[in-house]
Amino acid sequence: MLQASGISLTAKEETNFNIDIERPFPMPMKTLVQFINEKQVEYPDATGDFTRLINDIGIAAKIVNREIRRAGLADINGYFGSTNIQGEEQKKLDVFANEQFINALKHGGQCAALASEENEDMIIFGNKYSMGGKYVVAFDPVDGSSNIEVNVPIGTIFAIYKRITQEGASGSIEDLLQPGRNLVAAGYVMYGSSTMLVYTTGNGVNGFTYDATVGLFFLSHPNMRVPETGTIYSINEANYVYFPEGVKRYIKYCQVDDKATNRPYSTRYIGSLVADVHRNLIRGGIFIYPGTLKNPNGKLRLLYELAPMAFIIEQAGGKASDGFRRIMDLEPYDLHQRSPVFIGSVKMVEKAEEFMREYSRDFVEKM
Ligand code: AHG
Ligand code: MN
Ligand code: MN
Repeated sequence: MLQASGISLTAKEETNFNIDIERPFPMPMKTLVQFINEKQVEYPDATGDFTRLINDIGIAAKIVNREIRRAGLADINGYFGSTNIQGEEQKKLDVFANEQFINALKHGGQCAALASEENEDMIIFGNKYSMGGKYVVAFDPVDGSSNIEVNVPIGTIFAIYKRITQEGASGSIEDLLQPGRNLVAAGYVMYGSSTMLVYTTGNGVNGFTYDATVGLFFLSHPNMRVPETGTIYSINEANYVYFPEGVKRYIKYCQVDDKATNRPYSTRYIGSLVADVHRNLIRGGIFIYPGTLKNPNGKLRLLYELAPMAFIIEQAGGKASDGFRRIMDLEPYDLHQRSPVFIGSVKMVEKAEEFMREYSRDFVEKM
């Protein structure tokens, strides 16, 4: 007879109750929705709005994933024929994915405003239930667009803030221009050899792998942690001559033959921020997209690329800065502002920051 907290169970109930007994088949892993619902009980004032928001993002990701997996067959490769605010020619998939995330977030009703890499201005829906939305979302619908046609991993990045303006009216720009430290959640989808959704709500980082045969994300990477150090550095060295002296010195440091410190490191550069950061999240390493004399703020966008990725990496025990200042403390003044980034294993980012302080201290004035 099983005595569980004073309850006496019959033999039949006992069998049903004790699910830890040896079972003939492995128990299916936890789905994303089960995981979110489980976590929701940890937030006493949770009303389910956030759960629905993450779920809506997951639905859009599944639709985008479907097109990516058929890219060579569907008419989704190539250029759309327009240019976005970044001055970049939009790929068909950029536009398609952008539409999917906007529609999913519009019809979900949790979102009072959106900022997208593909839209110059913020997006508000103006319908009554979105005006009640508690959240705003900044996102990059397709990260690594240059890799679409060559079948190299690409991603989606999203950042979720609580609105700071009064519910009942459409969201406003100040709801979106919040520093990363205000993020309530951030995540990315990586369309790689498998499709993964990795996100944090400020209590660690968890990764879910998509099983297209059942259309569900399953918890495959619980409590992801960045190794404290690593042997991979990731930077586009084609821009070497434009780099600040501190970055040049750090690259040379990575290339020194010193077995005691596992150098020379290896260099890996995929050209999709999501893929380069995801690899370092699992293996350890550093990704750097520095400012240059031509572009002191570099290329990557603070609101919907760097702040969400920084939140994830910090929650996994890593570090993210602009070479001098914590990415999550940078105050955005524009939806599309850019920032240099040093992100990954804490010891490697700290070493790179040492070189920036020693050789490029004045660079911060240019940013
Ligand atoms: P996006 O496709 O959203 O514009 O992002 C591309 C970004 C980022 O994913 C990647 O790390 C970086 O561009 C690569 O830039 P370079 O080609 O200049 O190295
Ligand atoms: Mn991007
Ligand atoms: Mn993009």
